[in-house]
Amino acid sequence: MNEQYISAAELRLLRQAGLSETVIAHSERVTAAALWLADQVREEAGLDAPDSLGRERLRRGAVFHDLGKAEDGGVLHGVVGARIGRALGLEEDVCRTMEVHVRGGVPAEQAEHYGLPPGDYRPATLAQQLVVLADKLVDVVEAGKAATVAEALENLADILHRHPNLGKDEATTGRILDLAGTFQAVRRPG
Ligand SMILES: [Fe+2]
Repeated sequence: MNEQYISAAELRLLRQAGLSETVIAHSERVTAAALWLADQVREEAGLDAPDSLGRERLRRGAVFHDLGKAEDGGVLHGVVGARIGRALGLEEDVCRTMEVHVRGGVPAEQAEHYGLPPGDYRPATLAQQLVVLADKLVDVVEAGKAATVAEALENLADILHRHPNLGKDEATTGRILDLAGTFQAVRRPG
């Protein structure tokens, strides 16, 4: 396990929570992808800020995003993860990242449709948004539809339209592509 992405203490926490090695390996790939995205973001976008928008929170959000899979393999793993995370005393921003990462970040009016408890599940910070995007890019690579995260990003719209199961549903696919658009808007030129 690469120390650069997941610290020994974080790895211990993920294992103690009961997360499988498969989910932990996925979380490491998502963390690498989220940091790769963050590296390309323009300075003024604020990812280097030492607060909840910052790069370290993005990293920790990615590390823990699937924590809830220790208890729930379905759409509820986001809220379950946030509950576990709060009980463990993880930062609120990290818990919020878990909550908002499912189905591309569900708006309040669609929460019931997805079987989520009432609430707004849209990623609000750039850090949260990049974790959600990174998660999908890694899903695409893990499904064998792109060789690299960069290739997944490059061809994301095409891939999600050709493989609707990866986008889960049309609304989710739309939200993911919106996040890709948000990233392109803050991407450094060149
Ligand atoms: Fe997840």
